[in-house]
Amino acid sequence: MSTPVVESPKIFSPELVAAQPYLIEQDWAAYTSEQHSIWTELVTRRMPQLEQHACSAYLEGFEQIGLQVDQLPQLARVSARLQPRTGWNSTPVSGFLPSDAFFEMLAARKFPTTTWIRSRDAMEYTPEPDIFHDVFGHVPMHAHPVFADFLEHYGKVCASLKSAEALERMGRLFWFTVEFGVIHEAGKIKVYGSGLISSHGECTHVVERGAGLEIREFNLDQVLHTVVDVSKMQPVLYAIESFDQIYEAAKEAESRLT
Ligand SMILES: [Fe+2]
Repeated sequence: MSTPVVESPKIFSPELVAAQPYLIEQDWAAYTSEQHSIWTELVTRRMPQLEQHACSAYLEGFEQIGLQVDQLPQLARVSARLQPRTGWNSTPVSGFLPSDAFFEMLAARKFPTTTWIRSRDAMEYTPEPDIFHDVFGHVPMHAHPVFADFLEHYGKVCASLKSAEALERMGRLFWFTVEFGVIHEAGKIKVYGSGLISSHGECTHVVERGAGLEIREFNLDQVLHTVVDVSKMQPVLYAIESFDQIYEAAKEAESRLT
């Protein structure tokens, strides 16, 4: 797989402290034609399944933020379309962030977005998120007003938590919503979590109801107590009825854990 490009921090954002050292500029002109073609291939491979099985908020968000099939996204352009809708930005960062920096950015409606793209020998999976996972997988959902409010509130709650146990529980809420969330829509189960949106294998496991998969109705208590094994296909997922449900769940979790 390709190594994340090391770039110097160049951006100053007055409202960010912990995240400041990780902010970079996206050097869009430096992407090679091979990297653009990897993006094209990844998007082209995912869209037929997503057109059938992604929730409407994701598909509408994809159009609203102006993602294109034929070239890697320019994060400044994505943010220019997203910001007026929900106040969110797709903010370039140098790589994996420590949790305080990550939560600080979510609380400021700035989604930490990696700028590197996987190589052709890692098309299905990368251990660390790349621009495909982050932008294709996550950012379209940030155009949905309630999801946008939920994610900001989630960041604020986590930024205020001191207990490692409370943070671990909130990590499970993130996992079963933002990363692996599914929603009831028009009598079907549709995907909205970025781990399902961006992974053909994980999404196929859900839409074909793979062996051992259980889809439960969303329940905050169960979510906070379900241990996650990131090395396996997900055996349990939680289906929501609407995004209001996870916004309320974040508020409920706040009142229990803080
Ligand atoms: Fe993710």
